[in-house]
Order: sequence, then C-alpha cells, then structure tokens
Amino acid sequence: MKHKEILELLNKMTIEEKIGQMVQIAGDIFLSEDKNAVLTGPLKDLHLHNEMVYSIGSVLNVIGARNVRQVQKEYLSKSRLKIPLLFMDDIINGYKIAFPIPIAQGCSWNIKVIKEMAEISAMESSIAGANVNFSPMVDLSRDARWGRVMESIGGEDPLLGEIYAKTIVETYQGKKLTEVGKIASCVKHIAAYGAVEAGRDYNTVDMSEREFRQYYLPAYKSAIEAGAEMLMTSFNILNGIPATVNTWLIQEIIRKELGFKGIIISDYGAIEETIAHGYSANGKEAAKNAINAGVDIDMMSSIYANYLKELCIENQEIENKVNESVLRILSLKNKLGLFENPYGNINEEKEKTYLMNPSNLEKAKKLTQETFVLLKNKHHILPINKDKKIAFIGPYVNNIGITGSWSMFSDRSQNHTLLDSFQEKLGNNIAYAKGSEILRQEEINKILSAEGLPMVHIENEAQKEQEMIASAVEISKRADIILLALGEHYKQTGEACSRSDIALPENQIQLINELYKLSKPMILILFNGRPLQLNTIEEKLDSILEVWFPGTTGAKAITEIILGEENPSGKLTMSFPQNVGQCPVYYNHYNTGRPHHDNFRYVSRYQDIPTESFYPFGYGLSYCDFKYTELHLNKHKISENETITVMVKIENQSNYAGYEVVQLYIQDVYGSVVRPVKELKAFKKEYFKPHEIKYVKFDISIDMLKFWNDKLDYVAEPGQFKVFVGGDSVKVLEDKFEFLLD
Ligand code: NOJ
Repeated sequence: MKHKEILELLNKMTIEEKIGQMVQIAGDIFLSEDKNAVLTGPLKDLHLHNEMVYSIGSVLNVIGARNVRQVQKEYLSKSRLKIPLLFMDDIINGYKIAFPIPIAQGCSWNIKVIKEMAEISAMESSIAGANVNFSPMVDLSRDARWGRVMESIGGEDPLLGEIYAKTIVETYQGKKLTEVGKIASCVKHIAAYGAVEAGRDYNTVDMSEREFRQYYLPAYKSAIEAGAEMLMTSFNILNGIPATVNTWLIQEIIRKELGFKGIIISDYGAIEETIAHGYSANGKEAAKNAINAGVDIDMMSSIYANYLKELCIENQEIENKVNESVLRILSLKNKLGLFENPYGNINEEKEKTYLMNPSNLEKAKKLTQETFVLLKNKHHILPINKDKKIAFIGPYVNNIGITGSWSMFSDRSQNHTLLDSFQEKLGNNIAYAKGSEILRQEEINKILSAEGLPMVHIENEAQKEQEMIASAVEISKRADIILLALGEHYKQTGEACSRSDIALPENQIQLINELYKLSKPMILILFNGRPLQLNTIEEKLDSILEVWFPGTTGAKAITEIILGEENPSGKLTMSFPQNVGQCPVYYNHYNTGRPHHDNFRYVSRYQDIPTESFYPFGYGLSYCDFKYTELHLNKHKISENETITVMVKIENQSNYAGYEVVQLYIQDVYGSVVRPVKELKAFKKEYFKPHEIKYVKFDISIDMLKFWNDKLDYVAEPGQFKVFVGGDSVKVLEDKFEFLLD
C-alpha cells in the first residue's frame, strides 16, 4: 500500500477501531469454539466487549501456520475494515529448534553463531506465521540473583550488548520484511530493567543519567540504529517514574535523541501496573500517562481499551497522539505486506520440510558447542579417554528438560538425553544412577504453587534421597571417573525467578559431598540460567563444563565436547560471584579510594571472601593451552584521528586445535569523572592449529576512549591510558599510552 492509502484508511477508522489497533491480547479468544466463554475466562479481567475484540490490532503468542491462518481468517471475516492482525511471539531462543538460552549464546563471543541461530529462528517462526519477535533482550545484567539474566544476550558488558543487538536485529529483519524468513524485531526492555535493586524482578531502578548512558543505553541504541521496528518498555521504575510512562526516557531519549520511529509496546500489563507503582491514580490516568509518554500498544491490559476514547473526546492532542500511534501500527503492517497478503509468509508445506530439518539440527549442534564454557580442567582430565569406565550420575543425565524457560513452542521429539548420546558413543562403558532429584519437593512446590500448578508429593523423601545417593556411590565405586550432570531447575530461571540463594540445590551438594569421599576424579556438567555460587563445591571437582540450558541439540553437543571430538571455546559474559553476598559483581567497576591490596584492613573488601569474582568476565578454558607474550604497541602517544596498533603473540602449546577469544581492554587512568578499572573495547575469536603461533592485531582509535564526562558530553579526554590484552579480563598483559591533544 502507498503511504497515501494508509492515511486514507486511517481516515476511515472510527475512534474505537483506532484504539483497537493499540490493544494487544492473547490469541486464545480466536482459537476457542465458544468466544463468550473465553471472554469470561482467561481474558475476563481485560473487560473487553465482543465488538472490541474484532478491532484489536495484534495478538500475542499465537503461532503455527494452521493456528495463525485460522485466527487471521476468523478475525478478518468479522472486522469491518479488514485490517489484518499482527502476530507477535516470544521466540526467545528459537521456535521449534530450541537454541541455547541467550546468556549462553552470548558466551560464544562469535557473531556468526548469534547470526546463524537468529536466522534459523526467524525462518522457522516466519513460515509458522510470526510477524514480530519479542527479541532480542539486551538488558545489561550484573546481578546473578535476577532470574532474567538468562535472557540477557550481552551479560554485563555494553560492547557485547551493542554488537549482538545489531546482529540479531539485522538478521531477523533483513532488507525487506516481506522476504520469506524475515520478521520484525521488538527489542526489550526499555530501559535498565537489568538493574532492578537486589536482583528482585520488577523492582526499583534508580541510577544516574551518566551510568544509564554509559552502560545501559548502548545496546538499545545499537538496536535502534540497526533499524529495530519495535521496542518494549520495562516493568521497573526508572528514577521515580515507571519506565512505561516515563516521558524523559521515551520522548527525550528514545524518540528525539535516538530518533526511533517505530512502535513502542508496553510489557504485559505494564500500563495498568503504573497504578500499583503509585504513579497513576486510576485507569484513566494510566492511559493518559502512557499515551503522553508515547506508548503505541497496550499489551494485555484493559487500560487503552477502556479509557482512551474518553481521553480523545476530552482532548484533541490525545486524539492526535492516537492517530500517530495507529499510523505507526498500520505502517508496520504495510511493511510486512499484510494488506496485500494477510497471511504473510505462512507456509504449511515449508513448515513440513523446514521445521526441525536435519541439516538445521546438525548446524544447531555445532553452534551450541560454542556456547559452553569450560570453567575448570585440572590435569586436563577432559576430554575423557573413551576407555575409561564412567559412572554417570545426576538428575540431568536422563532428562530432556534442558531447553530453558522460554522454549514453550519447541519440539521436544528430537531432544536426546545425555545418557542416550553417551551410550551411542561408548556402549556399556557407562553406568547410570540418578543420584538426586533436581530439587526437593518443598523447593519445587514453592515454585509450582505460585504458578497454580499441581504440586508433587514424594513419600519418605529423606529416605529415598539416601537410597539414591547410596546407589550412586555403589556404581561410582566401580568406575574410573564420575561424570555428574547437575544444576538449577529450569523453573528457577527466567521471568519472576529471582533468588537469594544461587548455590546448587542442597540435595545435589550432598550428592557431590558423598561421591567426593570416593577420591575419584569428578567432572561436572552444569545446567543453569545464571552465574551460580560454586565456592563450596569447586574444590571437590576436577573439571566443570558450563552448558547453561543448551536446547534441542544440547545432549549431543555436550557428548562430543566431553569426549574430545570438539573443543570448548566459550567465555563468560557475566562474572561468577564468590558467594551471593558479593552480587552484583562485575568486571568494569570503579576502583574506590581504597582498592583492595594484600591483607590490609581499611580497604574496600569483604572480611570473609576475596574481592574479585570467582570466575571473571571473559573467562573460559579450552583443551588447548594458550600462552600470551610480547604485547607490543607501535607507539605510546596518540592524538585525534590517529590509531595505535597493538600486537600480541599467542601460542597454542597443545596438540589440540581450537578457538581462543582474544580480548582487548582499556582503562582511562584519570578523568573528569572516575572511569572503570577496565572496559572491553575489542575482541577476536581466532582459530589455532596444534602448536600454532599467531600474532593478533588490534587498532585503538580515539572513539574507543570516549565516555560520558562530567558535563554529560560523550568525549575522549587527554591523559594516560592502560591497555590490557588477554584471554579473560584478569589474566592480561599490560602496557600504557597517552592521548595528547594536537
Ligand atoms: C513479559 C516479559 O517481560 C516480556 O519479555 C515478554 O516478551 C512478554 N511478557 C510477552 O510474553
């Protein structure tokens, strides 16, 4: 449709029809036989009347070619102006193929990996009818207590967030949204949602504008510059005002400063929640606050549906804003080609051949392997020698539930268990015992009851626990190596899954302790959605492979890594804390006036734990041994428009081939405001043959030295800088240079 025709369409719309476009509901209503039952059922709290339902603009989480076609058809048959619905979905880490959870994807430090996963997700979901994906989530995340760190693609680093955000948005959207396999990206959550106090979900965020601009804004900005069609607001307040109705944030920063022209959608119920926040006095005020701030779509609350009309009648300016919002929504429908073909790229035939196709599954396995992080490998116990007798112990050994909390659409028929995959390679050299449940009933029931789900009941739980441990010990006595598969429950991570205890569940720790008494080598395969507190178990383990929630091909991917057919190469994007009391802990912190050194009392430290993280940002081992030497700068002074070339020698001192992520950090030693001890400025993932030596090169430009200074200008200030290069953020070679004004 031409722009003129869209304007004509807008002119034909009644105010109710316009407001309808600005409302998003779950699609159940259209799939149900008895519409009235649904309106009095799951959607009853929305107080939507039947008429309104046939003018709403979009639905949430309806997917699958058949479903989408049915809903669109039914909707269009009753809608007066036949404006097609938009289908928006949470394809967070894949549709039918579940890829590793986003935090894991980020640990690949490989744009190609991120891109290829996004490509398959977009193709799978677009032929299944999705128009918009509520992804990527680019909230900078420093606090492991927050359950949603599992969704954070860049973890605690703004540069990773920026790079990944751009990659995903460009991959989802391509050049033209009408192309098969392309979907619009809805980037979330605007803004600073990852900074919720004490890691408690939906909690307060209060931070200086500088902190916000320096660390939290870059990833959203990068997504906007990459052309993201949509943004989603966050649940938190930002400096006293709920983000969803925060005019400074949405109007000043997002629309004016960053020039965002696309659609802004609230998060689920977030407009209505501004009442509970204590900001909007009632529904009408909530509607007014949200429309004035610039929210175009109200996701799953009744506020716009029930109050916008009244506001439009009272105030022409609000009606103008409604017109602007509707124009944005119609324009996206137009870009997606829905006026010409309301069924978009839905393709039942292609669904049959493309979804879960073997070549994508094979590809997924390779990509998944790059997301694992080898945290420990004493005496090179990994990879396991195939002749060894293995006792395979733990609740994740014979378990296909390894796809994470956002994989509700995934096809589990192709999920393998670790046990199957190992047996396929090793036959009878493996003995299995479950050893423990993931959680004790008291713990899992707390989670299930909050979701209104049936609870579990285990008779004589304590006795059964002892029996499970005993049989694990028995089996292990006859083995050469104990291979453990343990971790968090997937329901302990994700939205509303904040935790004050981030150690492994107590029953699993007990299992480790009992097996440790056998003095056999122990290897842990760790499943989890956040950095965990490992301090009480780490010493008992010879090796730890962090696999997060690895998705559909996870079991096969892990098997090949453990057996040395592939080599791990992931690096952490979030620091692991010594213990939960250290959260938030992150590498790019400030120094304080009393940095920790030696065992000195009046310095900034904890009395009971080290100051530094347990495993630092950027950390991850390989079966290769990489040695860094000869850091060399081609000059030690830089002025405007110049670059410094940094070179480092890296030697793979092993018989394995593998990848290493070479990382460059900079510290601005003095500034008009204090600067972090280190900031990631560049990285390269390099392939090394056995014993290969490589010289890796980086260019430092003035742009890399810029920051938000005391006047809130984004500039580089002259002075001294340190440069660090290494395989993580701690073990680095160091040099320095000076930035001089001409
Ligand atoms: C709430 C979550 O915060 C958001 O990330 C998600 O996209 C929406 N629900 C829709 O399911």
